[in-house]
Amino acid sequence: MINIENISKSYTDAGEKRLILDKLSLSFERGESLSIQGASGSGKSTLLHLLAALDKPDSGKITLSTSSGFEDLVSFTEAQADEYRKRQVGLIFQKFNLIDCISVWENVKLPIQISALNRASQNSPDNTDLLIKELLISLDVYKHRDKLPHQLSGGEQQRVAIARGLAHKPPLLLADEPTGNLDSKNSDIVSQLLVETCKAQNTALLMVTHSEKVAQLTEQQWYLENAVLRSI
Ligand SMILES: Nc1ncnc2c1ncn2[C@@H]1O[C@H](COP(=O)(O)OP(=O)(O)OP(=O)(O)O)[C@@H](O)[C@H]1O
Ligand SMILES: [Mg+2]
Repeated sequence: MINIENISKSYTDAGEKRLILDKLSLSFERGESLSIQGASGSGKSTLLHLLAALDKPDSGKITLSTSSGFEDLVSFTEAQADEYRKRQVGLIFQKFNLIDCISVWENVKLPIQISALNRASQNSPDNTDLLIKELLISLDVYKHRDKLPHQLSGGEQQRVAIARGLAHKPPLLLADEPTGNLDSKNSDIVSQLLVETCKAQNTALLMVTHSEKVAQLTEQQWYLENAVLRSI
């Protein structure tokens, strides 16, 4: 479903070209989970940005095929990349995931509203409410639905962020150190829920993590070093 073929990416730093990703290839299916570990600065976030179509590789191909069509990320215009991000991907970062002036419920509803804006067949309000309720219950934060994000603990906020990342049912969820600022107990709980919820929704999960324990929850485990991925 997601196919990364021979992508290379370099940055020019103080006039010197630095190769961050060197002819990297990877493919995975809907519902599959992958983790990427690697030292700080090894290029993990760079790879996630390419998959989110926030940036383009210097060479190589990235394609996503779903029942609704085929996307060639490298040839996207900015408008196409925007549309792709609204419909096809969910993003979760280490922190700053939620909008603090609206409730937990409204935060989770936001991507559904955005992705429905230009869509012909919109979810009925009843279906949307049911979906949000199910997600919040499965991530054990339904009781906090009317609170503002800052009234929740870090772990609870990250669980809401997972709900938000999955609310528009994207085929692909990209998570960049989603439990990086949680203690190890909460990190275990949240990452377990992340993997399980993606599986239940048939969403492919690509997760960057510094934790070996978190990485072990995923089906494919990779390590990025010297601009190449090795399987672990
Ligand atoms: N826009 C940019 N311009 C120039 N250099 C960049 C840019 N983005 C990233 N880099 C460089 O590319 C390298 C890889 O960065 P990246 O953010 O992908 O690392 P990472 O593996 O995510 O690290 P961390 O674990 O610390 O988050 C770093 O050396 C970084 O300085
Ligand atoms: Mg990073």
